[in-house]
Amino acid sequence: MTKNIDWGNLGFGYTDLPYRAVCEYKNGKWGEMQLSEDPYVRISECAGVLQYSQSCFEGLKAYTTQDGRIVTFRPDLNAERMYNSCKRLEIPAVTPEMFMEALDRVVKANIEYVPPFGSGATLYVRPYVFGSGAVIGVAPADEYIFRMICMPVGPYYKGGAKPIKVKISDFDRAAPRGTGDIKAGLNYAMSLYASVHAHAEGYAENIYLDPATRTKIEEAGGANVIFVTKDGTVVTPKSDSILPSVTRRSIMYVAEHILGMKTEQREVTLAEVPDFVECGLCGTAAVISPVGIIDNHGEDIVFPSGMEHPGPVIQKLYDTLTGIQSGRIEAPEGWLHEIKAD
Ligand code: PLP
Ligand code: COI
Repeated sequence: MTKNIDWGNLGFGYTDLPYRAVCEYKNGKWGEMQLSEDPYVRISECAGVLQYSQSCFEGLKAYTTQDGRIVTFRPDLNAERMYNSCKRLEIPAVTPEMFMEALDRVVKANIEYVPPFGSGATLYVRPYVFGSGAVIGVAPADEYIFRMICMPVGPYYKGGAKPIKVKISDFDRAAPRGTGDIKAGLNYAMSLYASVHAHAEGYAENIYLDPATRTKIEEAGGANVIFVTKDGTVVTPKSDSILPSVTRRSIMYVAEHILGMKTEQREVTLAEVPDFVECGLCGTAAVISPVGIIDNHGEDIVFPSGMEHPGPVIQKLYDTLTGIQSGRIEAPEGWLHEIKAD
């Protein structure tokens, strides 16, 4: 039985659901995947994660479809990205098999908390892995914990489908050949100062430029960016130092192969941004958040779609993507992974 929760008024916040999946790495190997009822973790005071931020994470969602199935969206891509994040951080790799086992078990164990179809909420799943063994010299830890938790959530950016106002940040997010293309916790730690200050100034989010030249759009603090040109082409920045967003890759596929739009993944300069007619931030948490205004150092770039409603192309992409995720529109082969209740 689905829990009786005020789904429509949920924010994007943590709740400790009854179960989480846990797996520990000790003596050179991963142990058995377990379900645990303990929301606390006990680790060494000198754990690798506490000293040198050796951790990475993922984010994906489970949905109830129109016909009552529980599905997750392209989890194979999250599993692959977590594998790559582990490799880059010298964390023993969480294999796609471990990832999928944890996903199936944790969603099934908390199935009463998967929001119903049409409620506006979803079950956010947060896999993460960190160095739990003690280190004091700079080195990888010898013990790790992989956990997968989940919680029902509402919109990430306040206002939901209402356009947001964002700013071009004076801080940099990820160096060329750094860790911008993986989901390392450290990428978010260093963004906190910029995001707290942006929020205090009334912006929903930061957009970062390429650190080398500060002339090209990279991505937002928690989402990739898409733009729409006057002739309706969907454009997204190409860069080796941004996160390969599952949502953005899916949107670009949907635009080209389902909606028959023109798409381009290429370098996008800050100078050309005023020529675009629509802009959106896309990610698992963000879904597609329309952007009405980008403040570039005191100069507002106001998109013609404005601050009241999403522009028509962003709206169409949003409807199609969420239609696929919730089973209203047929998904491309392999995009929906069903979680079957026992
Ligand atoms: N970029 C950053 C920095 C993010 O934190 C996220 C969120 O996961 C994304 C992009 C979007 O990625 P995805 O669509 O895979 O959730
Ligand atoms: C996600 O979209 O899953 C993320 O991890 C973004 C995060 C900043 C909430």
